Amino acid sequence: MAEITQMNIILLEHRLDYKAIYGMNLTLYLGANVITTKTIQETMNIISEQNIDLIFINNDAYVQDIANDLFTKMEKNLTTVPLFIIGNTKLNNDLGEKFESNCQLRDVIQSIAKSKSITAKMMSEMDQPAYFPLPMEFIVPGWQTIVEIFIKRSDTYRIAFLAEEIIFSEQLEEQKADGNNQLYVDRDKRLRFVNNITLQMTAKLNDPNMELTERVKVTEVAFQMVMEQARQIGIGDSTMELANSCIESMTSMVKSIPSLDKLLKNILKNTGSYRYKQSLLISYIGSHIIKKTKYPSKTQQEIFAFVSFFHNIGLHKDEYAMIHTDEQLEESNLSEKEKILIERHAIIAARLVTNSGKKNPYEVGIILKQHHGSTKGLGLSNLSPNISHLAMIFIFAQEWTNIVLNFENEERRPNKKQVIETLKRKYDLKGFYNLLPILDTLEL
Ligand SMILES: [Fe+2]
Repeated sequence: MAEITQMNIILLEHRLDYKAIYGMNLTLYLGANVITTKTIQETMNIISEQNIDLIFINNDAYVQDIANDLFTKMEKNLTTVPLFIIGNTKLNNDLGEKFESNCQLRDVIQSIAKSKSITAKMMSEMDQPAYFPLPMEFIVPGWQTIVEIFIKRSDTYRIAFLAEEIIFSEQLEEQKADGNNQLYVDRDKRLRFVNNITLQMTAKLNDPNMELTERVKVTEVAFQMVMEQARQIGIGDSTMELANSCIESMTSMVKSIPSLDKLLKNILKNTGSYRYKQSLLISYIGSHIIKKTKYPSKTQQEIFAFVSFFHNIGLHKDEYAMIHTDEQLEESNLSEKEKILIERHAIIAARLVTNSGKKNPYEVGIILKQHHGSTKGLGLSNLSPNISHLAMIFIFAQEWTNIVLNFENEERRPNKKQVIETLKRKYDLKGFYNLLPILDTLEL
């Protein structure tokens, strides 16, 4: 049997989510030791200290042609390490290889394996430990694992995360605090694990034939993944890609579910995330209100769906999203820090999302900021008559949602007419007059 020695690979990548996906793939498919760097200088330092087999770069992650600049620097120092580059570069690189921006990561991995004369057979015959180590730096909060993940304690392996569990940052922090920087997966399940991250989820969401009950559940998992990733690592390209699939999935539910009652039946019987139920219902009700306004547009619908998805992104616990007024907030037993977070969550959402490269960032930012009625995005009960038209629609949809979510029992839940009466009484205010008559025309 051919002997394979462990490869040392430098992964030059500054974006956390990509670092995780690339690092995980290189580790698990090639059994490589992956060292991450962010800059040319860091990379040069590592090369001078260690034997490096190759460097992996996604050139699109940098404004400069970093692959070319790194190569020039290496030549000057009389060192040459093969470069495997994704994206555009002017470098003609005989030692390594170049790949198109939209290439499959699998092809790059295969090509690296081939350059080292590693075949799939050799990989499978490699003498590997029963538990395969996963460096914790490659695990992104918000991922859903499909296999058990273990920790090692005095030579025994114990389950840290169950299959199907979403990995929350608090749990990762706990592990780190206990001195565990390495997690483990069963050797035979490691490729299943890496195959299933993010991309699988996106593909599933895009399946047009998924049944409603299944779609409600799958979208919820994706929703929680996006929320956790956005909170912990910001909204990078891959998180946004997942968010967009999720919003599309929610929009398709909004369009295809014939009545609010049917939607409520479907989501109130599951015990899942309150924030997800809230987002889905707001999206549903708001979309129906927009349809009845004088000049409804596709752009308005898109912006509204987006805002419904992201409005409570700053709130990482369901219990925070169950607080609807400043009074409730004041009376709650939460800490000062938590209270401030809730008070400021609208402005936090606006900032997070407008920096994410989303289209229509201005409009989206405004409605996120105003989604509790304040033009400044502060507090839960500061209702201003000067907020935007879509923000007012959002507030109606949100209020309606909060009312119905309080009643799991169908018998006791206020009906459409009762909710509309409540809204009319509460929002008999300047600025809202134009919208009130629309409520009577709603078909939902
Ligand atoms: Fe909110």
